[in-house]
Amino acid sequence: MRCSLRSFVILATSFLLLLLFIHFHMAREDDAMVVEKRRWAQEVAMQELRSELNAQSFQGLQNALAPINISYQYLVGAPLLRKSYLTIGLSSVKRTKKNYLLYTLTSIFSQSSEEELKEMVVVVHLADFDMDWNAHMAKEISSKFALQIALGRLVLIHAPQDMYPPLEGLKRNYNDPEERVKFRSKQNVDYAFLVNFCANLSTYYVMLEDDVQCAKSFFTVIKKVLTERENSYWVTLEFSKLGYIGKVYHSSDLPRLAHLLLLFYQEMPCDWLLTYFHKLLTQNDVIRFRPSLFQHIGFYSSFKGTANHLQDDGFEEESSMPDNPPANFVTSIATFENHYASHAYSNMEGYFWGISPVATDYFTIVFNVAVRITRVKVETGSKERPTDYLQSGQLSLGQNWSKTDKNCTRYLHIGSFSNGHFDKKEIEKLANFPVECVKITVTTSQTEWLIIRSINIWTS
Ligand SMILES: *[C@@H]1O[C@H](CO)[C@@H](O)[C@H](O)[C@H]1NC(C)=O
Ligand SMILES: *[C@@H]1O[C@H](CO)[C@@H](O)[C@H](O)[C@H]1NC(C)=O
Ligand SMILES: *[C@@H]1O[C@H](CO)[C@@H](O)[C@H](O)[C@H]1NC(C)=O
Ligand SMILES: *[C@@H]1O[C@H](CO)[C@@H](O)[C@H](O)[C@H]1NC(C)=O
Repeated sequence: MRCSLRSFVILATSFLLLLLFIHFHMAREDDAMVVEKRRWAQEVAMQELRSELNAQSFQGLQNALAPINISYQYLVGAPLLRKSYLTIGLSSVKRTKKNYLLYTLTSIFSQSSEEELKEMVVVVHLADFDMDWNAHMAKEISSKFALQIALGRLVLIHAPQDMYPPLEGLKRNYNDPEERVKFRSKQNVDYAFLVNFCANLSTYYVMLEDDVQCAKSFFTVIKKVLTERENSYWVTLEFSKLGYIGKVYHSSDLPRLAHLLLLFYQEMPCDWLLTYFHKLLTQNDVIRFRPSLFQHIGFYSSFKGTANHLQDDGFEEESSMPDNPPANFVTSIATFENHYASHAYSNMEGYFWGISPVATDYFTIVFNVAVRITRVKVETGSKERPTDYLQSGQLSLGQNWSKTDKNCTRYLHIGSFSNGHFDKKEIEKLANFPVECVKITVTTSQTEWLIIRSINIWTS
């Protein structure tokens, strides 16, 4: 009795906090959609509260910080006892059409160096209820990745079916067909059990899906960003735009994430749930980096082989990361709203948006310290606004910055834009001097506006 009273208080408090959060968070927005969204969210939370109070079987939910006690089966391998830096987690089930799991694992290991692999561990949750399929995959993976398994870098686990909450007779939110609801609800639990297992393995965690291609040295890029952000508050960092791919967490947050996924498992797909996680922990904005480090390759989704072509247009396989040394910006093009010049240059999402540039307009990057450049790549226009590209322009490298003129005094023209793109390598062969300015000059006036989506610079 005392126990159930206590769990009632804990649950009721959590949901009141959730309701308050939803209320205040959404009160700032103000259209009819939001009112509808708020009513819906409150309804969801209330229903969840009611059903949770009835079903006390999920003892683990009482303490959102404690890991859930699940007796995982180790299908292959076991993690090392010492903590690594990054765990890469993915969950996989049988697909009716093509299976990409082996491809994904190959991509993870082949795009990482020996040094990088020393600091990571890959955990695959083979989450099918068909144990024959799990055993078959486990066998194929062990023969292909014997070394990584022996080194404790690859672990295959399975959570027993009897740990799962009901998967029949679920709510039909969004009017999804019953099979779809069952599939996405089970997937939430698959992920919950996966992250719960991974909570203790490393300092950070990145979620992948079982059908992705990785960029070269994605580990080092993630580590660099994490190091830069060591002293700032964040909950989720995104290295891909799509699905549940490339989302990085503090491992210490994983038990809580597991609880969230379980608590709302039948409400919505995991890639919607994950957006609530960072908001509930007061990171309001999405923090996403580019280029994307992971590309979705699966042509068929794992749900009944339905076609799914989603591709991340921000992915670069050879993302030897640009150096983009610290710089300031000078432009004669009028900036639209807050789409500042610096947005085109930073590794955060965002872009420069300028109003109808005319011939001789310029956009200049001025380095804090002169650098030797090996490659410059500039992308203009965007998928949403393909007409806002630089129709005609050229790029030059400058020396002898003059503070008074806010200009370099000597320029070397190194090439022109073609269809809004500029990419030149081996620049050191024609401009072997310390560069202070990189200038984009508009050579023909255009009525369309100009989006500079990204500027990437590599130095030697
Ligand atoms: C976890 O569960 C197992 C079996 O279900 C039980 O034997 C064990 O005592 C539990 N551990 C904790 C810490 O509750
Ligand atoms: C995680 O590690 C801590 C400290 O080493 C330990 O107390 C805790 O029991 C571990 N939890 C699990 C689920 O292994
Ligand atoms: C560039 O600046 C350096 C010193 O800052 C000066 O010696 C040199 O003559 C300048 N070159 C030109 C072309 O102005
Ligand atoms: C910057 O300097 C170059 C070379 O001296 C000159 O051609 C150009 O007009 C200058 N631009 C501005 C905006 O002063």
